[in-house]
Parts: sequence; structure tokens; C-alpha cells
Amino acid sequence: MLKKTLLATLILVLAILLVACGGGGDTGGEEAAGGSVGDAAHGEELYNQVTIGSASAPGCVTCHSTEEGVVLVGPSHAGLASRAGTYVEGMSAEDYLRESITDPNAHIVDGFTPDVMYQNFGEELQARDINDLIAYMLTLN
Ligand code: HEC
Repeated sequence: MLKKTLLATLILVLAILLVACGGGGDTGGEEAAGGSVGDAAHGEELYNQVTIGSASAPGCVTCHSTEEGVVLVGPSHAGLASRAGTYVEGMSAEDYLRESITDPNAHIVDGFTPDVMYQNFGEELQARDINDLIAYMLTLN
């Protein structure tokens, strides 16, 4: 009788320990997996600069607005996050946005002309800054 009670207690303690450890592990995992392409807040700052990159090229806002229907030199970026993954079959939104920055002529938005967007961002922007810009543009729904 005593043996049985002891065994039951032992199993209970083991079960509690398992749950406690498992729970802690899961939380850590979620935190580690939570990162996106880059830092969207820093990307927004970069996007709004009047000049950008090592050669002080014209900044994104000099040609793009994030307001619906406002076309400056380039297309409005309103709703860009929802569109970006639909232009080229099999290309994710992230990849499309990266290509749009580093190789702007690879895909030309309907109604616009090649060689108007600044062409050298791929060389003049830091890889990290490009990631941050992409993270920001992925918030423009
Ligand atoms: C000198 C003007 C100019 C500047 C500066 C410029 N762009 Fe553009 N951009 C354009 C034009 C024009 C187009 C449309 C033609 C094309 O697709 O290349 C375009 C297209 C794009 C597109 C594709 C939009 C869509 O709806 O598919 C993205 C994304 C983009 N630009 C991002 C940027 C970012 C980020 C910056 C700043 C680092 C920037 N652009 C700076 C003129 C500019």
C-alpha cells in the first residue's frame, strides 16, 4: 500500500517537472523564431531620408508616396505588401521587394518606364539597410 502511494507521488512529481521544463522551452523557441527580414522601424527612417546610401542618392520618398493613388516619379507604395508577392509567379513578396531595390529594371510596374528609378542601390546600400527597408515595406498593407 505504502509502495503504491510512493510510486504515485513520484510519477506526479515527474509529470510536474516535465510540464515545467516543456513550457519554459517553448517560450524560448517562440522568441528565437520571432525575427523578420529586418528592423521595420529603422527601415521606415531610411525610407523617409531625403538622400540615402554611400553616394547620397535621392531617397525613396523623393519618388514614392505611401499614400493611396499619389504618384510622384514612381508608383505609390500604398498596399505594396499585399501586391508584392503577386507580380511574378513563384516570387515571394520579400524577394520581389529585394529585386525592386537592387535590380529595378528586372520588373517594371505597368505604366512606368525603365531606368527612372535610381539603379545603384544594390552597391551603395548596406545589406542590412536593404533588409530593414524590405521589413518596412512589408508593413505597407
Ligand atoms: C528617382 C526616382 C526613384 C527613387 C529615388 C526610388 N524609386 Fe523606386 N521606383 C521608381 C520608379 C519610376 C518605379 C517604377 C518603375 C520600376 O518598376 O522600376 C519604382 C518602383 C519601385 C518598386 C516597385 C513598386 C511596385 O509597386 O511594384 C519598389 C519596391 C521601389 N521602387 C522601392 C524603392 C525604394 C525602397 C527606394 C529607396 C531606397 C526607391 N524605390 C527609390 C522611382 C524611384
